[in-house]
Amino acid sequence: MSNATTLIHSIPVDPLTGAISVPIYQTSTYVQEAPGVNKGYDYARSNNPTRGALEKIIAELEGGKAASAFASGLAAIDAVVKLLESGDEILAVDDIYGGAFRLFTHIYAKFGIKVNYVDTTDVAHVLDAINTKTKLVWLETPTNPTLKISDIAAIATIAKQHGALLCVDNTFASPVLQQPIQLGADIVVHSATKYLGGHSDLIAGLVVTNTVELGEKIKFIQNASGAILSPHDSWLVIRGIETLYLRVKEHSKNAQIVAEFLETHPAVDKVYYPGLKNHYNHEVAVKQQSGFGGIVSFTLKEDTEAAAKIVVCNTSLFQLAESLGGVKSLLCHPATMTHKSIPAEKRSNAGVADSLIRLSVGLEHANDLVQDISHALHIVNAKTKQKDLV
Ligand SMILES: Cc1ncc(COP(=O)(O)O)c(C=O)c1O
Repeated sequence: MSNATTLIHSIPVDPLTGAISVPIYQTSTYVQEAPGVNKGYDYARSNNPTRGALEKIIAELEGGKAASAFASGLAAIDAVVKLLESGDEILAVDDIYGGAFRLFTHIYAKFGIKVNYVDTTDVAHVLDAINTKTKLVWLETPTNPTLKISDIAAIATIAKQHGALLCVDNTFASPVLQQPIQLGADIVVHSATKYLGGHSDLIAGLVVTNTVELGEKIKFIQNASGAILSPHDSWLVIRGIETLYLRVKEHSKNAQIVAEFLETHPAVDKVYYPGLKNHYNHEVAVKQQSGFGGIVSFTLKEDTEAAAKIVVCNTSLFQLAESLGGVKSLLCHPATMTHKSIPAEKRSNAGVADSLIRLSVGLEHANDLVQDISHALHIVNAKTKQKDLV
């Protein structure tokens, strides 16, 4: 059966009524026949059939054994870190999502959890940095925002040899393009706010595990800490997943066209897109992904915040907003928006230059998107030339 068919039919028909859309169980509690005698549900923080349906679907799509749904991607990341104890260390990709960096630094450092950031695109760096205290290896691949690609299978082997869990933030690829558990990861997290939801109308997070036992630990944390996903938002994510395959394929197709256009533009310096042959680790992306996704980042020849601001303020189809993965194209300036919580030096070492612009390429026609970005680049080019003449 094709992946698209499997994906669509992973969404169940309601066994009670035959409803083709998963019902939204908007309830806080469940009536019991006697104390502890119930239909498998007692309180909605612990269990909810709509959330349960989503958890089952994502576990299946990622090829995992269990899943838990959270109120945000960061709540999902937080639940994974709560598997650790004081004194444990995390080895994380250096170009990490700014919110994860903030969580690790400003919340978990004070509880005695240390994080070592390394450029995981080179497996040798992981081997060098891993130690006996490393209990969790944290990858994003592709990363946000420079689309760094790390070899999941190779790093999973190293993590296993050192008794550490490997968690992959699979937000950018989605299970349509990449299934980290199949490549040896123990845990996958998602900001379901992005491609899984797909319509820029919700905030949600997911954790998928490769074993039932690990899944039970996450479920315990989900219930104990309480950052659950609401029934309605669970339903919205399920509804998003119905078209995930179609959307991600189209996002990828459009992004490739936009990236190839940017490569040729005189105002553009570097283009980051795993689908470009000259992208670092392109061959690893080809090996572990079935497509390259909808995010493209680029820097300008005039590498300044001011030049980047001219571009991001002069597009009309690409709208200036944080977030990504929705139907409508968005763009942002990571240094002053999504990644401002990372200190400037760390940020620039990880490749987040002052002029870096991140595009979330949507589902509009690719030609219109190219024209839109071309117009904004023309303005920045003209302004730079004017400045040179003064
Ligand atoms: C790669 C990645 N992981 C996690 C998150 C956090 O997700 P959320 O905003 O749903 O909390 C984001 C948000 O942008 C992200 O880009």
